[in-house]
Amino acid sequence: MEIIIRKDADSAAYLVAKLTAKAIKAKPALTLGLATGRTMEIVYDKIVEMHKAGKIDFSKASSFNLDEYIGLEPTDENSYRAYMNKFLFDRVNIDKSKTNVPLGMAKDVQAECKRYEDAINASGGIDFQLLGIGMNGHIGFNEPMSSFSSLTSAKLLNEATIKVNEKLFPNPEMMPRRAITMGVKTILNTKRAVLLATGESKAEIIAQAVEGPMRASCTASALQMHPDCIIVLDEAAAKNLKMRDYYDFIFNSSDEWAEFR
Ligand code: GLP
Repeated sequence: MEIIIRKDADSAAYLVAKLTAKAIKAKPALTLGLATGRTMEIVYDKIVEMHKAGKIDFSKASSFNLDEYIGLEPTDENSYRAYMNKFLFDRVNIDKSKTNVPLGMAKDVQAECKRYEDAINASGGIDFQLLGIGMNGHIGFNEPMSSFSSLTSAKLLNEATIKVNEKLFPNPEMMPRRAITMGVKTILNTKRAVLLATGESKAEIIAQAVEGPMRASCTASALQMHPDCIIVLDEAAAKNLKMRDYYDFIFNSSDEWAEFR
């Protein structure tokens, strides 16, 4: 795990966008893993700006999103498919037929989970995965107690998640209580994972995920086992980290990060 702390949300998001651009440049046919949530909106804005400036070409790339609500049509404005169209896919030159989001309206949910996991594997695996973190430490929709060996599956959302996410729906009752999500193991299988968290509200859960013990009650802590995981934070989200000086020292002295400093 590498921890990179930037002064504010804007510069943290910019670093994530630059990492994404660099990955696509190095491998144009990149398989991207994508995340939703408010934290990611600014990252997509920056990626779109870079695309307009000719710095990112998605023409050969494909993507898999982390999750989708069960029971929402892809055309529903609250679906994660609609979110992705709005914030990224409709604004860059990605071939939409190569973008994948779990089908929340699938009749057979178990079969859809298997199909999704198989499709990720058939693509050769996810090269570069973007992640946010929920207030309860979830990655994707891997709620507390999700197994670290879980593959794509259906999850019942917990109270903390419902409380936060229902605010994004026109009426709280409209928020589905279940979702399909890549499993913790699916995420651990990605070649590189980049988690972005910003704002003071994430400080406590970030400290637990990064420096606390690995535990299923905070599924983001499983990222400690990921072979190539980068955690990008702003000052506010990094506030409770105890080894802050060490993380800064690594970032400021390693050649790999010279172009990002
Ligand atoms: C949702 C998504 C997660 C995301 C999380 C954080 O619940 N399923 O993938 O990381 O929200 O969202 P936000 O960035 O809005 O805090």
